[in-house]
Amino acid sequence: MTEQTEHTAREVKQAVVEQYGARARRAMEVAGQSPAAAACCAPAAPAGTAAPLEFVSIAPGTDAAACGDDCCSADSVGNELTAAQRYYAAADVDTLPDSVTLASAGCGNPIAVAELAEGEHVLDLGSGGGIDCFLAARRVGDTGAVWGLDMTPDMIALARHNASELALANVHFRLGEIEDIPFADAHFDVIMSNCVINLSPDKPRVFAESFRVLRPGGRFRVSDMVWTREIPADVRASIGEWAACVAGAPQVEDYLGGLRAAGFVDVAADYTDTEQGIVSAYITATKPE
Ligand SMILES: C[S@@+](CC[C@H](N)C(=O)[O-])C[C@H]1O[C@@H](n2cnc3c(N)ncnc32)[C@H](O)[C@@H]1O
Repeated sequence: MTEQTEHTAREVKQAVVEQYGARARRAMEVAGQSPAAAACCAPAAPAGTAAPLEFVSIAPGTDAAACGDDCCSADSVGNELTAAQRYYAAADVDTLPDSVTLASAGCGNPIAVAELAEGEHVLDLGSGGGIDCFLAARRVGDTGAVWGLDMTPDMIALARHNASELALANVHFRLGEIEDIPFADAHFDVIMSNCVINLSPDKPRVFAESFRVLRPGGRFRVSDMVWTREIPADVRASIGEWAACVAGAPQVEDYLGGLRAAGFVDVAADYTDTEQGIVSAYITATKPE
């Protein structure tokens, strides 16, 4: 897959952590929790994470200064149509607390294509406030388990708060990076993800790590942003557009080729093309038996 950014990986990740950290704190605030509570719950980097996270989380209470207009845009928390309302069945999301639904920042509903079964072990790459983890937990039941992985400390704090609100014992959240997944080989039946891999500056590594932690026959089921034509140069150069899930989105053929190069089979994308050139797609693949 071709190099897609003139920014360093660290700059990209710092921008992403700032953007989604602000979103997590805002969701916590709107749901009636103080941002300080979210910050003091922020966990330390887990043991076993090979590369310790070095990103700085913006201090609580500095949202407006830190994120400018971006986190108050039409797509952000507190506005009319949330991602939760747009992509999920009301029966699913109506039972979730506001601190889950307001943080939802996906571009689809990976649960709809994951075909989850009782007892399965599931990993959500870039789990955010945890919406897909909580919906998956209902489907895999007490004999299964769901893990959410995210590099933004405030998102992990929010997701853990949300899990305790829901009193779910089969959902766990871990701070870490999807390019360096802190789990053993062949640990999961399913990898899901919602609007996250486009944000990674090293997608081949994400695909290789996904392949490693899936068991033979395991399923990769994600929704993500893809370009259906070449990415305009000015868009690609914008770090703000990267954090907004636009500049880092690969061309669909690069996405599928990257999965095949990692060893996946039955690789496919399902999307409706538009004139904008960037669309939300369901990407599916399988690790061979
Ligand atoms: C657009 S939000 C989507 C969150 C969630 N999947 C949802 O549907 O609401 C992207 C999330 O992915 C996380 N993320 C982005 N890049 C990541 C990376 N390289 N490693 C781990 N987490 C990452 C961000 O911290 C953020 O919480």
